[in-house]
Amino acid sequence: MLYAVIMAGGSGTRFWPASRKMKPKQLLSLAGDRTMIQATSDRLTGLVPIDRQWIVTNRNLVEPIAEQLPAMPKANLIGEPAKRDTAPCIGLAAALIQRQDPDAIMAVMPSDHVIQTSDQFSEAIAAAEQLVLQDPERIVTFGIKPTYPAESFGYIQRGDAVTTADGPKAFAVAEFREKPDQQTAAEYLASGRYYWNSGIFVWKASTILDALRSRQPDMYSHLQAIADSIGTAEYAETLDREFTAIEGTSIDYAVMESYPNVVVIEAPFGWDDVGSWQSLGRLHPSDPQGNTVVGKHLGIDTTGSIIFGSPDHTIVTIGVEDLIVVQTKDATLVAPKSAEERVREVVKRLQESG
Ligand code: GDD
Ligand code: MG
Repeated sequence: MLYAVIMAGGSGTRFWPASRKMKPKQLLSLAGDRTMIQATSDRLTGLVPIDRQWIVTNRNLVEPIAEQLPAMPKANLIGEPAKRDTAPCIGLAAALIQRQDPDAIMAVMPSDHVIQTSDQFSEAIAAAEQLVLQDPERIVTFGIKPTYPAESFGYIQRGDAVTTADGPKAFAVAEFREKPDQQTAAEYLASGRYYWNSGIFVWKASTILDALRSRQPDMYSHLQAIADSIGTAEYAETLDREFTAIEGTSIDYAVMESYPNVVVIEAPFGWDDVGSWQSLGRLHPSDPQGNTVVGKHLGIDTTGSIIFGSPDHTIVTIGVEDLIVVQTKDATLVAPKSAEERVREVVKRLQESG
């Protein structure tokens, strides 16, 4: 049976001041009415019913997420006591799901991406499930055609074609390389043989657990201790102690770079990782002056800017170009687009000053 695991423990600090500790990127509506995590769950409709959708997130975010997804059973929301990156997050979900269903297949996905065309997404996940049923030790990834030498993504080198019954194109993976440096990324791009890793994976729960057992034995034993305590009075305490004791790492470094049996499906759906304020420009039509506006804005002689506010508060800009202006109830950001990476510094500074 197919389960979905939505990873939702990221902090999204580049979206300050819209994203906050208790309201990170995945809980915001950056590209429509629904928040990103609601859209992630909606997209699975018809493929994975809500009672087989699981969410793994920081403990503090369980309540706000439950409010956004009232139909999801509370038992499917796993709250981590500490942030340990995606390998422990995925391992924990796999260990818990496998106890319920030893043959479970999991589609693991981020909660903070924009994906267009749900139908093609569903077809691609269904094709991945078939590929796993054909070879239970296989891991299926989804590749995005790269458009620039990004250092912030994983890269997947395509090998020989793998046949799928009228499904999207699939290939054996020759190499998986997480976040290469700029020069390597440029070489990969020029070769035409690499995809970006979309961050979505399909595998059997038992496969990913076996992969963790051999590569991360310490992590694996902590995860098993947690799974062993399910249904007992010690569960909460065990989760706290054992999960906190895990050394954090991402699934890309922990498993993907070394796993020998990986297939990549060329993603037949539109994908955007929505990494920073400027990416809003790709998600909303711009006005004739090249501004991207969410909320109420009066621009006089204003060009190339990102304006993000609310319908009940007018932002006025006069004689500016290439600015980011973000207005929220209790904080405002004004920065040139060229400094958008530095938005992360704000969160650090504010944390330091308490
Ligand atoms: N539960 C939980 N716990 N979720 C987490 C944690 C954690 O400790 N850390 C991150 N996440 C969630 C994030 O909210 C996001 O939805 C997803 O896991 C991926 O984490 P990121 O931190 O955003 O990863 P990344 O962007 O650096 O890299 C990954 O995604 C890229 C595509 O966007 C990798 O898989 C890359 O290879 C890939 O290209
Ligand atoms: Mg990411």
